[in-house]
Amino acid sequence: MSEPLNPDDFVITRRRKKFKFAMFANSSLCFELDEWKRAAIDVVEVGAGTGFFSVELASRHPEQTFLAVDVKGDRLQKGAYEAEARNLTNIRFLRARADQLLEVVKPGSVSQVWLTFPDPFPKKRSAGRRLTNKTFLYTYTKMLNKSGSLSLKHDSREFFMWSLEQLVAYGWHIDELSFDLHDSDLSDDYKILTSYETRWLGEGLVTNFVRAHVPKNQ
Ligand SMILES: C[S@@+](CC[C@H](N)C(=O)[O-])C[C@H]1O[C@@H](n2cnc3c(N)ncnc32)[C@H](O)[C@@H]1O
Repeated sequence: MSEPLNPDDFVITRRRKKFKFAMFANSSLCFELDEWKRAAIDVVEVGAGTGFFSVELASRHPEQTFLAVDVKGDRLQKGAYEAEARNLTNIRFLRARADQLLEVVKPGSVSQVWLTFPDPFPKKRSAGRRLTNKTFLYTYTKMLNKSGSLSLKHDSREFFMWSLEQLVAYGWHIDELSFDLHDSDLSDDYKILTSYETRWLGEGLVTNFVRAHVPKNQ
């Protein structure tokens, strides 16, 4: 027989949820979509999780502005507290979905979009949720400026190859490509570890990497 439900468990859960929301709301670097005013952002990380990757990039490039976007506020909040601890003023954390990105940045204004280990949604019927499908690629095209590019890091070769096919099919040109980023000569910035990567790299994970752009008319 299953255990009887204890109402106190739900009180604790609700408190914990409120606590997580409060942590997010208490950081001046964290925003809900309805608080966000479209600002000039150079680099956007989509599905950023904790956003530690963007935090490190922001610390290396104080001349650029960064935005880490995720649906999960409790993850973003961790990056925001790290950015505050490092006194970074060039990064923000936004709780929003990828399909809302065109409400977030001015079209044609972003230099770099990063997709770091997006959920692969391996089932065919879930392809519509993959952040490298046709609809999302169109969104990134709209966000990027004329010289802007999209970068993807991923451990799943299957998801990565599928994403490469999408890029080529929808007119993206491949600028840089590696099937083992950490054993390549590519930029050290690309090799900054995300939270996900830190967890799995020691267990044989190999990071696939591509940077691509869509040629835009003058
Ligand atoms: C596998 S995790 C990777 C997190 C982080 N990039 C890293 O490498 O540590 C995928 C992240 O994408 C977020 N995500 C999934 N679908 C999303 C969507 N449609 N819009 C925004 N974030 C999304 C999830 O909440 C999760 O934090």
